[in-house]
Parts: sequence; C-alpha cells; structure tokens
Amino acid sequence: MSTAGKVIKCKAAVLWEPNTPFSIEEIEVSPPKAKEVRIKILASGICRTDDHVIKKAMAAKFPVIVGHEATGVVESIGEGVQTVKPGDKVIPLFLPQCGECAACRNPQGNVCIRSDLTGLGVLADGTTRFTCKGKTVYHFMNTSTFTEYTVVEEICVAKIDDAAPPEKVCLIGCGFSTGYGAAMKTGKVTPGSTCAVFGLGGVGLSVIMGCKSAGASRIIGIDLNKDKFEKALVVGATECISPKDSAKPISEVLAEMTGNSVDYTFEVVGRHETMIDALASCHMNYGTSVVVGAPPTAKLLSYDPMLLFTGRTWKGCVFGGWKSRDDVPKLVTDFLAKKFDLDQLITHVLPFKKINEGFELLYSGQSIRTILIF
Ligand SMILES: NC(=O)c1ccc[n+]([C@@H]2O[C@H](COP(=O)([O-])OP(=O)(O)OC[C@H]3O[C@@H](n4cnc5c(N)ncnc54)[C@H](O)[C@@H]3O)[C@@H](O)[C@H]2O)c1
Ligand SMILES: [Zn+2]
Ligand SMILES: [Zn+2]
Repeated sequence: MSTAGKVIKCKAAVLWEPNTPFSIEEIEVSPPKAKEVRIKILASGICRTDDHVIKKAMAAKFPVIVGHEATGVVESIGEGVQTVKPGDKVIPLFLPQCGECAACRNPQGNVCIRSDLTGLGVLADGTTRFTCKGKTVYHFMNTSTFTEYTVVEEICVAKIDDAAPPEKVCLIGCGFSTGYGAAMKTGKVTPGSTCAVFGLGGVGLSVIMGCKSAGASRIIGIDLNKDKFEKALVVGATECISPKDSAKPISEVLAEMTGNSVDYTFEVVGRHETMIDALASCHMNYGTSVVVGAPPTAKLLSYDPMLLFTGRTWKGCVFGGWKSRDDVPKLVTDFLAKKFDLDQLITHVLPFKKINEGFELLYSGQSIRTILIF
C-alpha cells in the first residue's frame, strides 16, 4: 500500500536535550508539502558535526533529529517537485542549492542563502515535519538523517546514479566531499607543493586524498592521536607528526622539517588554537591556510594580524566549496569510476539502532567513519 500523502510512523534517534544519549523513538513524519521530498534513509554516516550539536558547540533547537551524511530513496514528493520522483536514489544536502541567490549564481559561490547553519531547525514555511509523543521535533541543517524517514526541500536533494552503493556514497553527503573539495577547490593545491593537515578524522583524511589528487609532493598529517597515522599514510600522507612530540610550537616544527616551505595548511579539528597554529604554519608570504573544522559558536578568536600582513591567505569553506546539487551527482559518478576510494574512511558499520555505540567509537578515537545501516 502506498504511503504517499499519509503520515508515516517510524523509528528515529531523537536528541531530547544536549549532552544526553540518543533515544530511539517512534516518531510521526508528515507528508512533504509543496517543493518538498520525503526520503526513506538507507545509510547514514556519523560526522563530528553531529556531535557538535550534542555538545552545544553548534546551535540547534531541541528536541532535534541530527544526522546529515546519508543516502536514501525518494518515498514521495510534494506539489511542484520536478527534479526527483519516487524511487530515485538520492543524497540529502545540508547545503542547499536554490539556484537563485547571489552565492548560487556566482560560479565561485556555494553557501546558498537558504542554508540553515544557524540552527533554525524548520523548513521553508517555518514548521517541522516531525512529531514525537505529541511534541514538535526540529530538523537539523536541512537534512535530519538519523531517522527511517525524513522530509527535505527539493533544493536540498541530489539525485544520484542508481548503481551507487548507499553505505559508501553517503560519505559524499558530507565528510569526503568537504575534505576533498577543501584541497581541490578551496585551497587549489598545486602540483609539487607541500601541505600540512591538522586533524586526521574522516574529513582530514579526505583533505589528504584531495592534496594527493592535486599532485602535492609532500603531505604532513598532524594529530594528537597517533593511532590515526597509519590510515593517513595509506591515503596519501608522506609523514605524520604529533604536536605533543616537541616542546616547540608546531609551526616551528613544520618550518624546520620543510626548510620553511609549507604552501598549504588545513585545519580539520574545529578548535581556535589549531586554526591559529595552521595559519602560522603556512609560509608567511605565499602560504594559504584553509579552515575546514567547524568553529565553536559564540566564541571569538583573537590573532596577531601580522600573520596576514606579510601576505598569507586565510580561507574557509563549507562542504569543500562544492555546489551541492550540481556537484554531488558528479562526485558519485567519479566514485563509480574509481577516481577515489571511500573504503579507507569506513572503519565500522552498525545497525541504526546502535547509534549510541557509533558515537562511543567516535569519542574513543577508534573510528574514522561509522556507517549506520537502516
Ligand atoms: N566545513 C564543513 O563543511 C565541515 C563539514 C564536515 C565536518 N566539518 C568539521 O570538520 C571537523 C573534523 O570533522 P571529522 O568528522 O573529521 O572529526 P573527527 O573528530 O573524526 O576528527 C578530528 C581529529 O582531530 C584530532 N585532534 C583533536 N584535537 C587536536 C589537536 N589539538 N591537534 C591535532 N589534532 C587534533 C582528533 O584526534 C581527530 O583525529 C569538525 O570540526 C567538523 O565539525 C566541517
Ligand atoms: Zn558532516
Ligand atoms: Zn541559493
């Protein structure tokens, strides 16, 4: 029997409050309104950004359904939806592409004005499509994928090749694309260059893959957790270091290692201290540093402007600079053509209901990416 037009009851991982575990609940998911799409989720990765919500480092309204790195199948569509149909395999997009705002129209832009990076938690009409135990449950970054069914706006969904394995290409919905694009599109890493990557989680490893694809000849991975080094070397790092191994500032250690010639640095941790360390570590004149880690909300950072005065470039990017609806299907095609390998990023696969276990693996530093299967 078709579920189109009806409320769907299904299981979701609800966060009732910050700093609490996920609670698997039965929720109601309303049918999609005009220009909206209801998606059955097949697989969803666990990204550190989801944890930022739990820890209140990123704004969100509670109760909330987080998760933003997923693959699914369109279950039904609202009025006026033209670009996807029921049965299509899709990736929900935490970064929309409305096609009309200044960022969408500019060839260099990608942060669409319709993005919800400030935690509004509602769809375009100001309401949510989720309820649980009679209470309104909020959306997260236009996606909310830790649920069997979700509703997103049409501008937040990319149709992908039907042949794509859902439990792998979900990573193209965030972690992989963010890191890979940070190197290829935002940093514009050049052949023969020297790069340093701070933070060797799923996103940092994807930065390394991007640096390697761009032809960097030296790629230095930096992490406090040395267990992360092995994987970093496999995906393309030429050497790895821990800031704990020297009493000197990491910028000095890198300058000594490279004869003061680090061209590009990437901050992929999400801490002010590493943002400044990464900036100071690229060449004082022609170096470029890219902020990829999500900055803690409501905190200001002070820095010595001399770091920029001498010529460094300091940039940031959301979703690796990719235009989401245009580029996600192309990245899936590139994956199917074996242009990059996502297997290296996937360390654990768990049934959706073991989501709390998945987060424990992130906290203990054991996982790169855990994929939840529905
Ligand atoms: N810009 C975007 O669009 C975007 C998208 C996805 C994720 N992010 C952000 O990217 C960051 C990384 O995400 P992830 O999923 O790879 O996280 P992760 O937690 O898996 O990886 C972070 C790594 O940093 C290491 N680390 C912690 N403190 C460190 C320090 N002081 N020096 C060096 N290394 C340190 C940890 O050991 C870990 O290996 C997060 O802040 C996340 O929110 C941003
Ligand atoms: Zn993410
Ligand atoms: Zn737009």
